[in-house]
Amino acid sequence: MPERKPIIAGNWKMHHDHFTAIQCTQKLSYLLDKKDYDQVDVVICPPFTDLRSVQTTLESDRIPIALGAQNCYWEKEGAFTGEVSPLMLAKLKVTFVIVGHSERRELFGETDDAVNRKVRAVLAAGMTPIVCVGETLEEREAGATEGKVLGQVAEAFAGVSKAAVATCVVAYEPIWAIGTGRNATPEDAEATIGVIRGAVAEAAGAEASEAVRIQYGGSVKPGNIAELMARPGIDGALVGGASLDPDDFARIVRFSE
Ligand code: 13P
Repeated sequence: MPERKPIIAGNWKMHHDHFTAIQCTQKLSYLLDKKDYDQVDVVICPPFTDLRSVQTTLESDRIPIALGAQNCYWEKEGAFTGEVSPLMLAKLKVTFVIVGHSERRELFGETDDAVNRKVRAVLAAGMTPIVCVGETLEEREAGATEGKVLGQVAEAFAGVSKAAVATCVVAYEPIWAIGTGRNATPEDAEATIGVIRGAVAEAAGAEASEAVRIQYGGSVKPGNIAELMARPGIDGALVGGASLDPDDFARIVRFSE
């Protein structure tokens, strides 16, 4: 079985201007050290307007935190007012792109087909998609969680090669747990992540499903990360609110202490 290195990513959502983004990045790098980076892949996903400033900070101070974007379009260039191309992100040394976050699906009408196009475009540009899947509270209460995530995974990876799927990251984010302070229990999160891993096996074979890293997201905090990471099926976390505070995010990265 391949060893899956944990990956902990901060999704800053629509927070921080480029000045506070630089401060936050510097503070985080001050709090983390080589041992942390050896144990965990650390990613921060600032808003588009902060990417260049954060990238310059990471590069000039040689900080081994990976840069992620929160979204992109699937075309390389063209008359798509307001959109950002995967090639533009790759040129900025962005290496991860969050795709299909529930806020994009719910607030901006992003469909499974759009998620699939974005996944393929991100991979074609040499970056790694962090594909978000998860159920609403109504779906959970109706016992529809499995069907929902199975469908989302199958659609996201349609037409993607097995080798490429193996490099991807999936984030299981139950929508009812996002920003609510109500996190899934580690047992529940691991069980649904098991279903997701099964869906990846279905789409891309056993090897890819063993290699793909699957994070949990939804009200991850310094106080609950250790019990989540203690589950062998959970390979990391996608952190919203708590990633805005470098002290909290550093404690999350150091989950085992
Ligand atoms: P919170 O950690 O604020 O619940 O957000 C989770 C999330 O949506 C990360 O992408």
